[in-house]
Amino acid sequence: MKRFSIFSLMLLLSALLAGCMEEPKLHIIPQPAEMKASSGHFEVTAQTPLVVESGSRNPAERLVEELLPYWGVAMPIAEQGQGILLRVDESIGHKEGYKLEVGRKGILLTGGSDAGLYYGLQSLRQLIIAHNGKIPCGEIADQPHFAYRGAHLDVCRHFFTVEEVKRYIDILAAHKLNRFHWHLTDDQGWRIEIKAFPELTEKGAMRKQTVIGHCHDPKGYDGIPHGGYYTQEEIRDVVEYAAARYITIIPEIEMPGHAQAALHALPQLGCREQQVEVWGMWGVTPEVMCAGKESTYDFLEQVLTEVVELFPGELIHIGGDECPKDRWKECPHCQGRMRELGLENESQLQGYLVARIEKFLNGYGRHIIGWDDILEGGVTPTATVMSWQGSKGGIHAAKQGNNAIMAPMEYCYFDFYQTKSREGEGLGIGGWVSFDKVYGWDPYEGLNTEERKHIIGMQCNLWSEYITTADHLYQMLLPRLAALCEVQWAYDRRDPATVRERMETQRRFYEANNWPYAPYYFEGRL
Ligand code: ACM
Ligand code: ZN
Repeated sequence: MKRFSIFSLMLLLSALLAGCMEEPKLHIIPQPAEMKASSGHFEVTAQTPLVVESGSRNPAERLVEELLPYWGVAMPIAEQGQGILLRVDESIGHKEGYKLEVGRKGILLTGGSDAGLYYGLQSLRQLIIAHNGKIPCGEIADQPHFAYRGAHLDVCRHFFTVEEVKRYIDILAAHKLNRFHWHLTDDQGWRIEIKAFPELTEKGAMRKQTVIGHCHDPKGYDGIPHGGYYTQEEIRDVVEYAAARYITIIPEIEMPGHAQAALHALPQLGCREQQVEVWGMWGVTPEVMCAGKESTYDFLEQVLTEVVELFPGELIHIGGDECPKDRWKECPHCQGRMRELGLENESQLQGYLVARIEKFLNGYGRHIIGWDDILEGGVTPTATVMSWQGSKGGIHAAKQGNNAIMAPMEYCYFDFYQTKSREGEGLGIGGWVSFDKVYGWDPYEGLNTEERKHIIGMQCNLWSEYITTADHLYQMLLPRLAALCEVQWAYDRRDPATVRERMETQRRFYEANNWPYAPYYFEGRL
């Protein structure tokens, strides 16, 4: 009995000691490349100065802003002194990389560039919230796996305000994404002011009504006008807002399909030139731009001239998906153009349109992205293919030497249901993309080492047919974006064994930021 008690006491003591000595857990999403925790901590408070030794003040200013709701006051920014030292040093070896060293007396953050500093501060922001400011001593060295880390947002099926879009961008930035694909034009609404064609937003930004229920089982129309658009001034403001968070915006101007709102505003863009509605239904409409008339190309070039002035990024998305060829088959202009060019079918006519627009944009130093449908008409080697109909388009593109962005429906369509049972989720478009499914995805599957170099990154797509409020939008994004950002940033160091535990910390981070998220994953519902 006595021996047993001593033995128990020893067990208890060793357990307690192990508890004291256990390395503090650093939960950061996406998972950093290297992390070492040691004993002790440095306490960051609202009064701790951010000391900008080199680089721009912007990363520090962003952190101050981001933590303002948390602290209630603005952290000071200084040029010298003790606290959190920020330094840019190219020897970090990667522009987006950083090293975060936490000692008992202070923190040193070194970034490969201002962007690296920003990402380091995003990690620090998570630690501040997770540890109530008491940051465990240690060292984090980090850098991203993929160069293109994107998320898309459809503002056509339902419109989201500038403030709502900015909040979306905030969420992307906190997950270390660097591309925002802004889907600005579609059948159900034209959302970007174009000075050369004011009709596009005067007439094409508002639909009279919207289908009730799922488009496969419609229950009539609601009779409620829906719409909105962004002025060029607002667009510039959002571009600047995103850039301050190291996010480049990729605008998408859909052509030649998904263009019924433009055809409503400018019927001469269609083959038949007849009046069509801004569409109140979801799906694919036969009303597309005429690819035969020269005036269509004039129109597209004038629109894109304004678009490149608004968006400084290298990539412009020209859509290209789901373009039925019914109208083209009956159109004298389209058929005439095909004869003149010696084209055998309408897919090749779309290939001609895409190549011509690409050349135009190349003249502005820009490159195009198109949905994988553009492969049907043949693409030039400089077009980037966005794979959405599974991964096969991206694989095909990579094998023929084109760059590709992976966004296959079965892993990346965040408008899909989050649980298999769909219980409590409300009406959605269909499908099933759970957190775990995204987390376990290998975007390189089917590609050899050489071909993998053409996969520049991946993104989630958030189509808004069945998403009518911003809160619902964020709940479709979170927490799945956390899974995606680990694929994007931490491809080769994902850790399924710890992700659930780390996501509990991430959940508290979402709550501290007041970001709506879906509960299913946290409830263990798959
Ligand atoms: C798409 O989902 N139609 C690109
Ligand atoms: Zn035509």
